Amino acid sequence: MTLTDDKQQELIQAAQQVKAKAYAPYSNYQVGAALLTKSGKIFLGVNVENAAYPDTICAERSAAVSAVSAGEREFEAIAVATRNGGTPCGSCRQFLSEFGLDIEVLLVDEHGDLIQQSTIRELLPGAFQPHDLLD
Ligand code: THU
Repeated sequence: MTLTDDKQQELIQAAQQVKAKAYAPYSNYQVGAALLTKSGKIFLGVNVENAAYPDTICAERSAAVSAVSAGEREFEAIAVATRNGGTPCGSCRQFLSEFGLDIEVLLVDEHGDLIQQSTIRELLPGAFQPHDLLD
């Protein structure tokens, strides 16, 4: 399934809107993520920081955890909204790769401009995959 322009725009807007709910008092870098499942549903996530800094969870992983908690495991695309179109961290790339290397990744800035469009496969060559656990 390819992402229609309408669905892409809906996903981008959802990521931009939810960004305002980010809890980022330490970095002041708000991130909103909107994850589209193959079944057509959108799950949202924000970064949630903690006074114990490493306990912070990123927006992309929040969205994925929310989707999986609802029984969804097949993902089409994720839009990530930040002020400057920042790219997903290595942990989020790895986390999403568990659910497919072909997930589209749309990075948008505070103006809603699409800064980059790629896939997890492109963002994380050599991802450690479930089959790597087999002998
Ligand atoms: N952050 C995300 O939410 N996603 C990423 O992929 C990169 C970083 C958050 C974590 C932290 O709250 C803030 O951005 C600054 O690193």
